[in-house]
Amino acid sequence: MVRVLGIIGAGKLGVAIGRAAADAGWQVLFYDTAPAESVHAAVASASPDAQLVTLPELAETAEIVVIAVPFAASRELDLSLLNGKVVLDPTNYWPAVDGPMPELDRRHGSTSAQLAYRNPRMRLVKSLNHLSYHDFTSDARSSGITPRRAIAVASDDRGAQELVAQLVNDIGFDPVLVPFDRAGLLEPDGPVFGHWLDSGGMHQALRTASDPQLN
Ligand SMILES: NC(=O)c1ccc[n+]([C@@H]2O[C@H](COP(=O)([O-])OP(=O)(O)OC[C@H]3O[C@@H](n4cnc5c(N)ncnc54)[C@H](OP(=O)(O)O)[C@@H]3O)[C@@H](O)[C@H]2O)c1
Repeated sequence: MVRVLGIIGAGKLGVAIGRAAADAGWQVLFYDTAPAESVHAAVASASPDAQLVTLPELAETAEIVVIAVPFAASRELDLSLLNGKVVLDPTNYWPAVDGPMPELDRRHGSTSAQLAYRNPRMRLVKSLNHLSYHDFTSDARSSGITPRRAIAVASDDRGAQELVAQLVNDIGFDPVLVPFDRAGLLEPDGPVFGHWLDSGGMHQALRTASDPQLN
């Protein structure tokens, strides 16, 4: 069965994820608000089979919807279209890009917690945010090849978490399942952001950060 991945935002991260998923056999759909000719080129660079669709079409068809836009731009999205969908949040808050967001400047919660607050009916998973977009090419390894880089998958929805874990494995990484309340630890300044860690190292880093007495 061909799995369908919908990606909102055909920028650096969205294209990198789309390329990796298409190479792994997923059908990839994109939605993006940028001018048509640049978006068509970006979508084609992900895969010749990738398609550009409307947001309602993407929400209707995709098994996983990835929100790959700057976090501030996510406020422009009609998240009600994603009710009941498995939604993968790879966003990070960057004040220089997103502008000041007092609720996140105070580091109260993660971008995912903000998205969950905006629409609690999404089946939200935080993942893919703690790597750089070019790592999806350089660090991918087939299952069974060690060492293999780990990617955290944070959710309290077991079915959504397992589906995203399958995507993570398919694109060449070891999924590490963690509860949703660890999502903030995956973001900038957290213990795993930007670090190459295998699954053992990821578990250890997150455990230590959650309980500093383990240091
Ligand atoms: N780049 C990375 O290595 C990386 C790694 C991990 C996480 N992330 C996170 O991933 C997200 C995307 O980063 P990026 O580097 O891929 O950004 P990017 O290169 O700027 O791409 C974002 C894309 O989303 C489009 N867009 C903006 N608002 C939109 C909307 N409302 N609806 C649909 N499309 C919209 C943009 O179009 P316009 O250009 O016309 O605005 C652009 O094509 C950010 O939250 C970032 O923190 C990035």
